[in-house]
Amino acid sequence: MPGLNQDVLDRETAQRWIARWEIQQQGYLPDREDRFTALIDAVEEAAGRADPLVLDLGCGPGSLSVRLLDRMPAARVVAIDTDPVLLALGRTAYGDRDGLRFADVDLRSNGWTGELALDRPADAAVSTTALHWLRPEALHGMYARLATVLRPGGLLLDGDHLRDDATAVPTLVRLGQVLIEREERRRFPDGLPESWQGWWEAIKEDPALGAPLAEREQRRLSEDHHGSESVQLATHVDGLRAAGFAEIGTIWQRGENRILAGVLAP
Ligand SMILES: C[S@@+](CC[C@H](N)C(=O)[O-])C[C@H]1O[C@@H](n2cnc3c(N)ncnc32)[C@H](O)[C@@H]1O
Repeated sequence: MPGLNQDVLDRETAQRWIARWEIQQQGYLPDREDRFTALIDAVEEAAGRADPLVLDLGCGPGSLSVRLLDRMPAARVVAIDTDPVLLALGRTAYGDRDGLRFADVDLRSNGWTGELALDRPADAAVSTTALHWLRPEALHGMYARLATVLRPGGLLLDGDHLRDDATAVPTLVRLGQVLIEREERRRFPDGLPESWQGWWEAIKEDPALGAPLAEREQRRLSEDHHGSESVQLATHVDGLRAAGFAEIGTIWQRGENRILAGVLAP
């Protein structure tokens, strides 16, 4: 177990937990790296500058943020999350990366954009496997506030599993889900190497994470996620349209797994 018998989180321990996080997430998302790559391609193309200001919404330990900085070293990324454990891992592993700042901010709060203390409008907001955690009303509020800190023509890029309307296309929605299940059984006939729950059970045993784990309990974050809060594509499209995004559509897709893009009205 990484870090057992230590009471201070060091960089090597944080890196080991993050490496294990990447494997755990990749288990659910065979195309995770391809999706990161395509999403960053879109930022590079659309940002219009080598040093864009980018918000990573629900950054976890910083997986997308650091990949973006690897590709665009002059970018500035504000990596936003509300989970103290994942923030502690990201800050300890990558805290001194040029251009990267972690922000402990809850995307559901009314004042989340103000808490970022941005010095100029952001060129893009990116996100992976995170925004479906927000209930529809909170998601719509989040998109509306995001629009106030993005520059005109700025981009929202959301990589997530987002479903078509099951009342309109029930067979297609069912097939989409069955294909994911079949692929997972084919990849892992004996079950996932490590589940989300398994990763959290393991890290709870590491005393090096004692303080952020206690803070996580305090915030009751493990009780917030039921898995199906905003998985409907239409919930996102409606929220983006209401927030003033002019062009909204899927720019990359494999089954339900897609990158939904929104371009803020110029
Ligand atoms: C499955 S993880 C994905 C993390 C990372 N983007 C990745 O692709 O590895 C979902 C993340 O969304 C974050 N999240 C969920 N609700 C949030 C909220 N209201 N405010 C900020 N972050 C949130 C969680 O804490 C978690 O880190």
